[in-house]
Amino acid sequence: MPATEATLAVVMNGEARELTVAVWHTLLDVLRDDVGLTGTKECCAEGECGACTVILDGAVINSCLMLAVEADGSEITTIEGLARDDRLSAVQDAFLAEGAVQCGFCIPGMVMAAHALLESEPDPDIDAVREGLSGNLCRCGGYHQICSAVLVAARARADGGGG
Ligand code: FES
Ligand code: FES
Repeated sequence: MPATEATLAVVMNGEARELTVAVWHTLLDVLRDDVGLTGTKECCAEGECGACTVILDGAVINSCLMLAVEADGSEITTIEGLARDDRLSAVQDAFLAEGAVQCGFCIPGMVMAAHALLESEPDPDIDAVREGLSGNLCRCGGYHQICSAVLVAARARADGGGG
């Protein structure tokens, strides 16, 4: 009989974890249902909207498209892992300051995509921000404020204002 469960070892938000998961569960299922990290959202569940964006080994991925077992050995960062010592990240701060959060459903994915963008490209122009967030949809249409927030966060990071 084929195995229905598997064990994976990951570093999740800086903490080493060993998890026993159903082999058919996506990484999104495991984050939300097994680990309780419900900041990562499920919307389309087919790789179209970016609501489920997390950072895996430094790259943004849609966690709804990846089986959890494929993440074995990886380092995963979710929206819950961005704040340090109760201090929001520069991107989180800027989203609040710029009024970039409307209903909020897309925001964890947007923040993760923005964070990854600034890690790889610390001083993006507006076109680079749009490109960097192009896999993330906001049904509230808050793109202007969201892109402004990413530029503000880039300046704050350059001035030493948080990760
Ligand atoms: S829920 Fe994963 S891309 Fe939409
Ligand atoms: S803030 Fe509502 S979907 Fe983006």
